[in-house]
Amino acid sequence: MGTVGAGFSMSLDGFIAGPNDDVQRVFAWMFKGDQDVQVSTGDEALDLKLTSEGIEQRESMEHSIGAILSGRRMFDVSGAWGGKHPLNVPIVVLTHQPPQEWVNKPGSPFTFVTDGIESAVAKAKAIAGDKNIGVGGADITRQCLKLGLLDEIGIDLVPVLLGSGVRLFEHLGIEPIELEIAGVTEDTGVTHLRYRVIK
Ligand SMILES: NC(=O)c1ccc[n+]([C@@H]2O[C@H](COP(=O)([O-])OP(=O)(O)OC[C@H]3O[C@@H](n4cnc5c(N)ncnc54)[C@H](OP(=O)(O)O)[C@@H]3O)[C@@H](O)[C@H]2O)c1
Repeated sequence: MGTVGAGFSMSLDGFIAGPNDDVQRVFAWMFKGDQDVQVSTGDEALDLKLTSEGIEQRESMEHSIGAILSGRRMFDVSGAWGGKHPLNVPIVVLTHQPPQEWVNKPGSPFTFVTDGIESAVAKAKAIAGDKNIGVGGADITRQCLKLGLLDEIGIDLVPVLLGSGVRLFEHLGIEPIELEIAGVTEDTGVTHLRYRVIK
């Protein structure tokens, strides 16, 4: 059975997006490396510039992730990735109301789950098989954390104080959750931090 891990690019003051869901600054490190890497969504080709550390991280995700679990806002903000996530894996979307244009669409990578986070994680695990699940969206990451469903947290820490936007760890309302440091890698314009959640 694979792990359930959330990964975000985050400012030092804890924001994973600026105002209006703007991720330009927190993703800027992906354009500061010395090697060209092309990734594509269903409707966009992105010319990244990664360092060897960034490429290693990306290749590790490509090999290990078998399904993405997304909150409805991340799905909407990304424009449903034009119908294909950059990692080209199935995506489970947790929502109160599935978007009819994507339900039962032939070739769609999306499975919509409406009966809660535990059910969504179970569905993603069933799809991913032995591979890992990548959780995206701050709200659903917090829900996973609170219920003990998250095994790992990856933070690409960006040296900027954004001041406002979408915070990852706000209103957690939890007892302290201990983490174990699983990796620290210095990179150009970013520090890659990896944590295991101690259960
Ligand atoms: N920096 C990064 O690496 C990075 C990566 C990914 C995303 N982001 C940013 O993160 C933001 C999105 O995260 P977010 O926290 O705003 O939202 P989110 O977690 O993606 O989605 C939250 C939405 O999911 C649905 N939902 C959540 N729990 C549910 C439940 N138990 N049952 C049914 N539906 C449920 C609800 O939508 P409905 O009620 O509408 O169905 C809820 O509003 C965006 O700004 C995005 O750009 C940043």
